[in-house]
Amino acid sequence: KRVSLHLFVSVLAGSTGLLHCPHNPGDTLLMMTWWIRPLYKPPCFITILDSRSVNNCSERTMHENLSLKILKTHITDTGNYSCEVVNAHGTFHSSFMLQVLVPPSVSLTLNPAGFPECRTVGGISPSEISWIPESDDVITRREMSPDKTWTVISTYRVQIIPGREVTCNVSHPTFTHPQILTIVIPGKTLKILSFGERKKSQQGQ
Ligand SMILES: *[C@@H]1O[C@H](CO)[C@@H](O)[C@H](O)[C@H]1NC(C)=O
Ligand SMILES: *[C@@H]1O[C@H](CO)[C@@H](O)[C@H](O)[C@H]1NC(C)=O
Ligand SMILES: *[C@@H]1O[C@H](CO)[C@@H](O)[C@H](O)[C@H]1NC(C)=O
Ligand SMILES: *[C@@H]1O[C@H](CO)[C@@H](O)[C@H](O)[C@H]1NC(C)=O
Repeated sequence: KRVSLHLFVSVLAGSTGLLHCPHNPGDTLLMMTWWIRPLYKPPCFITILDSRSVNNCSERTMHENLSLKILKTHITDTGNYSCEVVNAHGTFHSSFMLQVLVPPSVSLTLNPAGFPECRTVGGISPSEISWIPESDDVITRREMSPDKTWTVISTYRVQIIPGREVTCNVSHPTFTHPQILTIVIPGKTLKILSFGERKKSQQGQ
């Protein structure tokens, strides 16, 4: 029995996941099995024997020839996947770690005490939040929800002159660029501008 290294694969939630078993079964393939051990669900398997197959996984999980295809990936598909090929030369085994990436939603508001609060909800890994202007007087809390996603709440606890801007900068593995949110500290009215809108309004000036 030959075992190959773990391969790390990540896919964005909602898209199709495709895992290719790296072994060439040749024309002496006897049997092929995908073993699936998700982190948050019971294990399941797909076995292909001759032209028949047995599958006790979700309807979204299927084999396409010798590859494994997962439709509309969900955070609960995260886990270990391995393929086993049995042919005349022996048994070959490969493992994959599949991570389904979920982008968080991001918001910037004033909390009831009047401090800017940047909140990211729903990411599969916690986001990184920084502030402009920088300050040591920032409190950041990270919590994992029962659905295994992270909520990160960062509070900027600096007294700011009304009319000044505070910017929250959010990085996450699912973002191609950091998300920049700016809030104008109100005298009375509250105004939130996204980066894109801010550029437009500056161009309009
Ligand atoms: C997946 O594989 C890794 C590395 O071998 C192991 O640490 C982890 O416990 C496995 N997880 C599951 C759900 O089997
Ligand atoms: C699939 O079958 C295996 C072996 O019988 C069993 O351990 C596993 O719990 C089953 N998984 C599901 C999702 O029914
Ligand atoms: C996969 O199988 C389909 C038929 O189910 C066939 O049309 C296709 O050519 C096969 N693809 C590969 C890469 O072998
Ligand atoms: C936002 O944070 C990222 C990561 O720390 C950094 O690379 C980037 O320069 C920051 N953007 C701004 C506008 O400060």
